[in-house]
Amino acid sequence: MKEQVRIWSPATIANLNVGFDALGCALKEPAEEMIVRRTNSAGVVHISKILGASLDMRADRNVASIAAKSLLNSLGNPCGLELEIYKTIQPGSGIGSSAASAAAAVVGVNELLEVGLSPIELIPFALDGEAFASGARHADNVAPAILGGVALCNPEGQIQSIPIPKEWHVTVLHPQIEMLTSESREALPAQVDFQLAVKQAAWFASFVAACYEGDGVRAALGLEDVMVGPHRSSLIPFFSEIREIALAHGARTGGISGSGPSTFWVSLNAADARSVRHGIEVFMQSQSMNFYLYSTQLSAEGAHLIP
Ligand code: HSE
Repeated sequence: MKEQVRIWSPATIANLNVGFDALGCALKEPAEEMIVRRTNSAGVVHISKILGASLDMRADRNVASIAAKSLLNSLGNPCGLELEIYKTIQPGSGIGSSAASAAAAVVGVNELLEVGLSPIELIPFALDGEAFASGARHADNVAPAILGGVALCNPEGQIQSIPIPKEWHVTVLHPQIEMLTSESREALPAQVDFQLAVKQAAWFASFVAACYEGDGVRAALGLEDVMVGPHRSSLIPFFSEIREIALAHGARTGGISGSGPSTFWVSLNAADARSVRHGIEVFMQSQSMNFYLYSTQLSAEGAHLIP
């Protein structure tokens, strides 16, 4: 019987420009860890430590404990749980901080108690936690955080993995302002123009088809955001400047990560990605705003056990 497990869980980019609330991918970096420990207090989930972020430690107010409790309840509360949370993905960054916590928690419980649920079966429990944080049950961060790779969520809640676009190097810029998903959603119109919706659907389909064909270039070129980005980009610090710099340094495409404020920029080789990073870094250093910058790739692996 295992007494504790340590789980790795990745950051994620939701929407990927073309699939609002329906598409997301996992990143190799940043990623974070959580320890899930067995206790004797049946049904009680307790957070003993959170490092790296200032988050509520009350079990009914924290994404990770809510997700862990949801799964524990479904198992008939055979024991209690203690969580140690090591955050490196900052809350409010737009790269799936709460989803990483929810994913780590349910994968941790599944491993610790040897429940044997598949990654897909774990998603609804993680969504119970994610829904607390974001107020909505969209799985575009949680699904890739658990499944790895690129995940597609249809409107009925069914989820499937699609092939990872090849050769992608991703530069993620996280300007240090916290943006609430709810505020970013309020920037969106209630109705969408018919022609725009048709165009967006075609770009979404083109991206998915390119992934299945293993054509990373076409997958990148298909990431045209005609529906959401135009309403949100004014909320993102320096969005147009960063876009111009990234494209001038060799990025093929990019946009807002999830609801922002992070942005992501896709290059098709490591040299271009280094150049994109450098260009963005030089620009951001001339601004009076702190930032994190990640050079990463898509992760085929979702949240999983580590030694
Ligand atoms: N699809 C969501 C949005 C992602 O863009 O609002 C944020 O959780």
